[in-house]
Amino acid sequence: MSAVDQQAPSGATARDVVEQASRRRTFAVISHPDAGKSTLTEALALHARVIGQAGAVHGKAGRRGTVSDWMDMEKARGISITSAALQFEYADAVVNLLDTPGHSDFSEDTYRVLTAVDAAVMLIDAAKGLEAQTMKLFAVCRHRGIPVITVVNKWDRPGKDALELMDEISERTGLTPTPLTWPVGIAGDFRGVLDRRDGSYRRFTRTAGGATIAPEETLSAEAAADREGEPWQQAVEEVELLGASGQDHEQSLFLDGVTTPVLFASAVSNFGVGALLDTLVGMAPAPTGVTTADGGTREVTDPFSAFVFKVQAGMDTAHRDRLAFIRICSGVFERGMVVTHARTGRPFATKYAQHVFGRERESIDTAYPGDVVGLVNAAALGVGDTLYAERPVTYPPLTTFAPEHFAVCRGRDTGKHKQFRRGIEQLDSEGVVQVLRSDRRGDGAPVLAVVGPMQFEVATHRMENEFGAAVDLDRLPYSIAMRTDEASAPVVATARNAEVLQRTNGEYVAVFGDKWGLRVFKEKHPDLLLESLVAAQL
Ligand code: G4P
Repeated sequence: MSAVDQQAPSGATARDVVEQASRRRTFAVISHPDAGKSTLTEALALHARVIGQAGAVHGKAGRRGTVSDWMDMEKARGISITSAALQFEYADAVVNLLDTPGHSDFSEDTYRVLTAVDAAVMLIDAAKGLEAQTMKLFAVCRHRGIPVITVVNKWDRPGKDALELMDEISERTGLTPTPLTWPVGIAGDFRGVLDRRDGSYRRFTRTAGGATIAPEETLSAEAAADREGEPWQQAVEEVELLGASGQDHEQSLFLDGVTTPVLFASAVSNFGVGALLDTLVGMAPAPTGVTTADGGTREVTDPFSAFVFKVQAGMDTAHRDRLAFIRICSGVFERGMVVTHARTGRPFATKYAQHVFGRERESIDTAYPGDVVGLVNAAALGVGDTLYAERPVTYPPLTTFAPEHFAVCRGRDTGKHKQFRRGIEQLDSEGVVQVLRSDRRGDGAPVLAVVGPMQFEVATHRMENEFGAAVDLDRLPYSIAMRTDEASAPVVATARNAEVLQRTNGEYVAVFGDKWGLRVFKEKHPDLLLESLVAAQL
C-alpha cells in the first residue's frame, strides 16, 4: 500500500485529503469602507446560488434583513464588525469566503482573519482609487505573503482613468497590476470588458437593482468592434500598451506577491462577479502545508490540526453561546471527533460543529484543509489556540497589535462582581479588547487597551447587554504600548506619565503618554527591555 492510500481514522485516505484540499479556495474580501465589500460578498453568494436574491446577506439600512450584521450596533451604524465564513461550491471548487470588518478600528480583527486565508480580494472604488484602509490592508497582505487579486469596482459610475489607476497601484503598493479584463467604455459608461485571456468581449447588461445574476453575453472581437466602435478600439489600444509594458499575468509572480491580477466590475449589477469566481478557482492557491511554532511544516496530509482565528459570543440572541472559528490546516475533520487542545493538553469534543454565516447555521460533518468550522460552546478555546489529533503540533501565536487607547473599566454595580469578571474574561479571550492588569489597580479595575476607540463601544455594549454588568470607562492619558519584562518593570514603572501592566498570559506591557516621554526615558535607561509591539499599520 502506498503512503497516499493509507487511511486516516476517519476512513479518508491521504489521497482524499489531497484531492479535497486542492479543491479549496479560502479567501477574504478586503477594502476601504464603502468600496462595495458587502455588495460583492452578496453577489458572490448569489452567483454560487447560495441565496436566491441579493439582499439576504448584506443588510444596510433600508434593505432586507441581514445574515452577517448581527449586533444592534452594527445595524445602527451600518457597518460589519464581526467576521463570518460562507462556504459554497463553484465549478468544481469549494469556496470559503471569510468576511472581514471594514472599519479601521477593527483592523486587528481583520488581521486575524487574514491569518486564516490563502488569498485576498482587494476591492477598490473606481472613483476613489487607493484609500487609507486599502493601503494598510495591502501592507498586511505583503507582510503575510498573501497573494492579492484586485477588483476595480463601481465602473458603472464616473471614476478615474483605468490606466491611471494601474499606475496608482504600481506606484503606491509596489505590486505590478496585470489586468485580466479591461473595461470597454470609461468609468460611468461601462459597456463591458475585453477579456485579455482570449480577446473576447463580455458585454455588460444591467439587471433590475442587480438582484439576480446578470446574463453575460460574450462576443468575438470582430462583433465587439462592430457593436461598440470607438470605446472598443480604445480598449484594444490600451491592452496593447499593457502588453508592451509587461503587465501580463504570470502565475508564479502572482503567488510570490510580485503582481496582482486586476478585474473590472460593477458589484451592484453583479457584473464581473462570475469572472472573479473563475479567477479565484483558476488562479488562487489551494491550501498547502502550514508553518508551525517550532519552524516545521504541518502538511495537509498530516493528521488533523487547526487553529482558532476568531472567538465570538452572543452572535444570536436566541442562542447565547460562544463560537470558536477554526481554520483547518491538515487532515480530515469529522464532527464528534475528540481532539487535543494544545495549550492545555486537554481533550476537546467537537460534537457541535457548524458552518456559520451570521445567523445561518448548519451542522458540519466533514471538513478539509482550508475549511472554516464554528465550534459551539467552546468556552476553553481562545484566539490563536491550536487543536490537533494524533501527532501534536502548535501553530505560532497570532500577533497582537500595539494598542493606542486605554481606559480603566469599572462595574457600575458592585453586586454584579461575578458577571463583571465573566464578561471581562470573555472579551479578553475573544480578543475584543486587550485586558491589562496591575497590582495597583486590582482585578476589579482592569485596563482595557484597544487599537480603535470603537472597540470600547463594543466592549461596554456587550458587558451591559450580554453579561448584565454595566460598566464605566475612564480614559487614561496613554497612547503608546511597549513590551517589557519582569526585570525591567519596576524601573519602567517609575517613568513619568507611564505605568507597567500585565496581560492575562503574564506578558508585561509598559504604557507611555507620548513618544517624547518614552524617548527621554529610553535614553536614560538604555539597558532596560522596551520593545515595540506590532503597529496597527505594520
Ligand atoms: P462596504 O461593505 O465596502 O462598506 O460597501 P457596500 O457594499 O455597503 O457598498 C457601499 C455603497 O456602494 C452602497 O451604496 C452600494 O450600493 C454601493 N455600491 C457597491 N457596489 C457598487 C457598484 O458596483 N456600483 C455602484 N454604482 N454602487 C455600488 P449605499 O447607497 O451606501 O447603500 P445602499 O442603499 O445601496 O445599500
